[in-house]
Amino acid sequence: LFSLGEPQKPTPEILSKTIAANDHLWNRYPPPNGDKEFRDAAIAWLNRRYKLPSDFLSADANIMPVPGTREPLYQIGFICSPPEKNGQRAAILMPNPFYHVYQGAAMVGGAEPVYLPAEPENNFFPCLEELSTDLLERTSIFFLCSPSNPQGTVADKLYLKKLIELAREYDFIVAFDECYCEIYREDPPFGGLQVCAEFGLGVSNVLSFNSLSKRSSAPGLRSGFIAGDPEIIKRYGQFVTFGGAPLPLPILHTSTALWSDDTHVAENRAYYNKNFELAAEILGGHFDVKIPPAGFFLWLKVGDGKTVAKRLWEKAAIKTVPGELMGRNDVNGNNPGKPYLRIALVYDPSVTEIGLTRIIKTLFE
Ligand SMILES: Cc1ncc(COP(=O)(O)O)c(C=O)c1O
Repeated sequence: LFSLGEPQKPTPEILSKTIAANDHLWNRYPPPNGDKEFRDAAIAWLNRRYKLPSDFLSADANIMPVPGTREPLYQIGFICSPPEKNGQRAAILMPNPFYHVYQGAAMVGGAEPVYLPAEPENNFFPCLEELSTDLLERTSIFFLCSPSNPQGTVADKLYLKKLIELAREYDFIVAFDECYCEIYREDPPFGGLQVCAEFGLGVSNVLSFNSLSKRSSAPGLRSGFIAGDPEIIKRYGQFVTFGGAPLPLPILHTSTALWSDDTHVAENRAYYNKNFELAAEILGGHFDVKIPPAGFFLWLKVGDGKTVAKRLWEKAAIKTVPGELMGRNDVNGNNPGKPYLRIALVYDPSVTEIGLTRIIKTLFE
């Protein structure tokens, strides 16, 4: 019930209508980089969402459609990470716990995955000051997920700026996984490109990953885009031309329509906000419930996540994710996810209420 981060809200009407209206295009090969309308819609959304100057990004140089973000997050590992950097094995850095695909990117690129502890003291983001010069010199990609999965925290702009500056100094790519950027409680989270624009930093070494899966409750559409450094966009385009999957034209046109509409997204936010209110109300008496500023996961400190997850599954048929499955042991053998349970609040509030009440009944009555 609460395990997968898969939106359960019905997809917006625009989706089925636009797919149907483009039914005649299934017999056409789609172009690798989509079409100008799509890229313009992506830029218009980025400009609205992050208040970017209208001439900051170019449709031809900075945008590439992708079939969801999981795929390019993985593929970037072999497209952009050399096996060696500065005479040493390349390293791909990621927060710990993390979305599992970052590890896949390191594996496919032949790089060493380096798990950086993301602890509550640092807002669940890796501590940049602790990175050694030796590690930075061999870093090829740094994955940062903000709003973060699993914790739903948001990196502030000075943190993002510092990371971008490090990327330029040590010449690595910062892959900003921003697929939860539209699912927030009150204030829209900062984004990597926004920081580039605000501080006059340009977009080199920066790539932002955006998706309709959470924004439009449409993970089955497999649609998103990457935006940023023109060199990386070009390389990714070459990869798609040879062996990647371009977006089929009906999906491309539907995506253009979805990126151009904000109304359905506001409805999504209200839906998740309601679920978090329920979580605070129902679980609050028994746990220290921290409503995250963004995302749709509750990262609940329960003592031992695995034991509690097992109990909920055995006694109440409720599936959750033990936090330790999203993390790895650090050098001291600690898995920072161990005390936590990840609860995906993706169901309709009426179902969420039943599920959360059952959690309390199972654990405390
Ligand atoms: C942090 C994070 N990044 C990326 C994705 C991939 O989403 P999609 O491929 O549907 O865009 C997910 C999906 O759950 C996620 O949680």
